[in-house]
Amino acid sequence: MSSAHIFIFDTTLRDGEQVPGCKLATPQKIELALRLEALGVDIIEAGFPVSSPGDFASVVAISKAVTRPTICALSRAVEGDIKRAAEALQYAKHPRIHTGIGTSDSHIYHKLLSTPEDILERAVRAVKYAKSFVEDVEFYAEDAGRTENEYLARVCEAAIKAGATVLNIPDTTGYCLPEEYGAKIRYLRENVRGIEKVILSTHCHNDLGLATANSIAGVQNGARQIECTINGVGERAGNTSLEEVVMIMRKHPYLNLDTRINTRLLNETSRLVSEAMGMPVQPNKAIVGANAFAHSSGIHQDGVIKRRDTYEIIDPQEVGVDTSSIVLTARSGRAALAYRYKNIGHNLSKMELDEAYQEFLVVADAKKEVNDADLTKILADKKVLAQ
Ligand code: KIV
Ligand code: ZN
Repeated sequence: MSSAHIFIFDTTLRDGEQVPGCKLATPQKIELALRLEALGVDIIEAGFPVSSPGDFASVVAISKAVTRPTICALSRAVEGDIKRAAEALQYAKHPRIHTGIGTSDSHIYHKLLSTPEDILERAVRAVKYAKSFVEDVEFYAEDAGRTENEYLARVCEAAIKAGATVLNIPDTTGYCLPEEYGAKIRYLRENVRGIEKVILSTHCHNDLGLATANSIAGVQNGARQIECTINGVGERAGNTSLEEVVMIMRKHPYLNLDTRINTRLLNETSRLVSEAMGMPVQPNKAIVGANAFAHSSGIHQDGVIKRRDTYEIIDPQEVGVDTSSIVLTARSGRAALAYRYKNIGHNLSKMELDEAYQEFLVVADAKKEVNDADLTKILADKKVLAQ
């Protein structure tokens, strides 16, 4: 059975850039957009043009510089927003307007001070208006995660009739459980007339740490686009992390879901985004964290030295990391110490290793991590004879 293509919609430059302190200047956005193009993303959400002249200029500049991926611009379901998005996209080879409105009771009654029927009409008007500028119109039902399925299905059906090509089902507040979010996508597939004509998209936030799991549940239930960001940056606890969903689909081929991401560029892209945004990546972050391929306990080190896949499900080179690392701490064993000595040119005999190991434990208890210089000094101080 051939794999289904999952479109990767990167919103690092829009949802990701909304993070306080992560604002990017236009030249930085162009550089990152070109990098996202090289990485192989299908759609780049370049900004929210009506929000500021700077964001408008960035969408124009990215539309000129990037040619393969679709360039998407965000708008609310407001004519002025949509018109501004269309103007910003005028140079895009493949333009998409992303427009939408809140559909949960919380948004309808407390944010928009409106009614479900009025929201439905506004959604239809917005899609039709966007469609007067571009063929490719994505509709988002904001807070779909907390929207009752029956009403959500009515809104989706109306948006399709109005001309939407993609339906975005955001879990805006990161509330859903994976099973619940997957069931929502399945419900829409089974109950919305015309659903087969459009692409269903996931857009999950990470407030409960479930963004990645929810996005995967979404594609397992028929969504064909994942909205995500590099390093999972985004509002509050962030968005779905691009590198995580891509590697999950790659590592589980039986899912039959494929992307065109060049995974060997993931690590470098992560660093570029982190540096440009001044947003450090937590060391234990899956795939791109500094410790993602570092082994420090003796039991794990012994296994990895014998055979990498005893403790690693990803070959580091697959994601652009040179090699796994064996970190020497007070929890390391002789196998790791021998391995690291070998790396710096010393093949220790069993006796030499035993002697060096005793001194190593003293140094390791005093320091967090023992480095190559420490290893050399241990040999010199103890006058261990190295071959
Ligand atoms: O989280 C969300 O609902 C959004 C929409 C604007 C797509 O970012
Ligand atoms: Zn969002």
